[in-house]
Amino acid sequence: MSSAFSNIMELITGKPNLLRNILVRLLSFFVLVFLARFAYLVTRKPNACDSVDFCFFSSDASNGYAQISGEGDGRLRNYYSSVFQDLIAEGYLSPNSKTLCIETLTGEDVAALKEIGVSNSVGISTKPSPEVIYGRAVRQPFGNNTFDFEFSGNGSLDRSSQPVKFASEISRTLKLGGFFVVHTAAKDAYSLDSLLDLFASCRLIRYHDINSLDSSIREVVLMKENQILDHGHKIPSIDGNSGNKCPVPGYERELIRNAEPLISEEPLKPWITLKRNRNNIRYLPSVVDISFKHRYVYIDVGARSYGSSIGSWFQKQYPKQNKTFEIYAISANKAFHEEIRTKKRVTLLPYAAWVRNETLFFEITRKPTRKNEENFRGMGRVQAMQPLSNFVGDSDKIEGFDFANWLKNAVSERDFVVVKMNVEGSEFHLVPRLVETGAICLVDEMLVECHYNRWQRCCPGKRSSKHQKTFAQCLVLLSSLRESGVLVHQWW
Ligand SMILES: *[C@@H]1O[C@H](CO)[C@@H](O)[C@H](O)[C@H]1NC(C)=O
Ligand SMILES: *[C@@H]1O[C@H](CO)[C@@H](O)[C@H](O)[C@H]1NC(C)=O
Ligand SMILES: *[C@@H]1O[C@H](CO)[C@@H](O)[C@H](O)[C@H]1NC(C)=O
Ligand SMILES: *[C@@H]1O[C@H](CO)[C@@H](O)[C@H](O)[C@H]1NC(C)=O
Repeated sequence: MSSAFSNIMELITGKPNLLRNILVRLLSFFVLVFLARFAYLVTRKPNACDSVDFCFFSSDASNGYAQISGEGDGRLRNYYSSVFQDLIAEGYLSPNSKTLCIETLTGEDVAALKEIGVSNSVGISTKPSPEVIYGRAVRQPFGNNTFDFEFSGNGSLDRSSQPVKFASEISRTLKLGGFFVVHTAAKDAYSLDSLLDLFASCRLIRYHDINSLDSSIREVVLMKENQILDHGHKIPSIDGNSGNKCPVPGYERELIRNAEPLISEEPLKPWITLKRNRNNIRYLPSVVDISFKHRYVYIDVGARSYGSSIGSWFQKQYPKQNKTFEIYAISANKAFHEEIRTKKRVTLLPYAAWVRNETLFFEITRKPTRKNEENFRGMGRVQAMQPLSNFVGDSDKIEGFDFANWLKNAVSERDFVVVKMNVEGSEFHLVPRLVETGAICLVDEMLVECHYNRWQRCCPGKRSSKHQKTFAQCLVLLSSLRESGVLVHQWW
């Protein structure tokens, strides 16, 4: 300690000149290195403060860079200027408008607004800069009815993981009669409809496609008409028998018309024909943009082992457009419960999907021949418990639940819902019940394995005795679904 002290004393008093020279040179060397690094950062790495690399600016100063580099990028500024000038020409924006740019990446949209004379403009972003204050789209830092005009550019709504919240905040902070303009990469009728569903308080004014910097995007203009923030579509009530029609927009009919045709001739080798048909299926997300939905939900009705359809088909083959799906596995068969419960993001409903809450039993256990025992590994056809059958052991009993009612509580019109159904004949009860209650309107895409007295593989010329319904009845079931606007596929 004392020697360190004497070194410092020497420094201050400057006794040994040699040491002082060395120190001065060292110091100048470090200053030079520092300056060189500084120059490099300023010219080459304006966002250095975003990395942990080397940051000696406060976040304010780093935004100074963003501004400098932004000024260099006249293309972006010009692009937004022309977008806003067009909107002024159309009367949706005026120099007096109080405007907000939501989740702006660069602040160039705000800068462009100011440049063309819309001076009362602000942006929000999680990376603030002079034009842009800190704020998130899903929690705008403004009071109700604040803005005349709000803008969401560059796909910020597309990227949002909470589009419902995003939209309800706009509806809240926009003044009555104010305009909301969104730029989105989603350009089909399906996604436009989903987008409009998010804005119950707004009316669609117009949409058209414009050329952005390097791609074509859609510009949608909405006007806030009322203070209702959150209603969504009305679906028929569970006990109303009036409403068994879903509102089916024209484009959805078109989708159904363009779907793979249902196989209408009874196949002689169903185990080949129907199985092959899987490859013909055009799943909904492979033909439309499924953006702007609240949740993405897959319901496996009559799930077996995890691998049999959730793991092998839904997870691996169903197109999801990068959306995270919540999965419900509905299975009364205890043999699969333990495995399904271990899977993340899969909710097990340990019941049989049925038309009401009641106890059922496995019909096939009444005739425990060898063949039927094999079938038991799937799930047998269920029937309502009958008084005479009280000799049936507890292990054969299963709880049935009202699937249609559950569905109406579990999902909404704003969710994207895929239902796969393999219920050993119960589809002839479940599907009509879904239609009658209107719950079917909540389903976006459906895959149904219809069980009928099919030709058997084992024994040519023999029909399966397991099911009484005919192929024609299956066809009626599925085609009537399509006619009422449900995109259903034949499954095997
Ligand atoms: C703002 O609007 C929201 C949503 O309609 C409402 O819940 C809230 O009470 C309003 N706040 C004020 C201060 O009016
Ligand atoms: C959109 O953001 C990307 C960065 O994510 C940027 O490269 C592009 O220039 C932006 N486009 C517009 C039109 O703002
Ligand atoms: C999904 O995300 C990956 C990487 O995150 C990306 O490369 C891919 O283009 C995305 N696909 C779609 C359909 O958005
Ligand atoms: C039917 O059963 C389900 C699942 O246990 C339950 O959530 C629902 O409340 C029941 N409904 C009635 C009417 O009892």
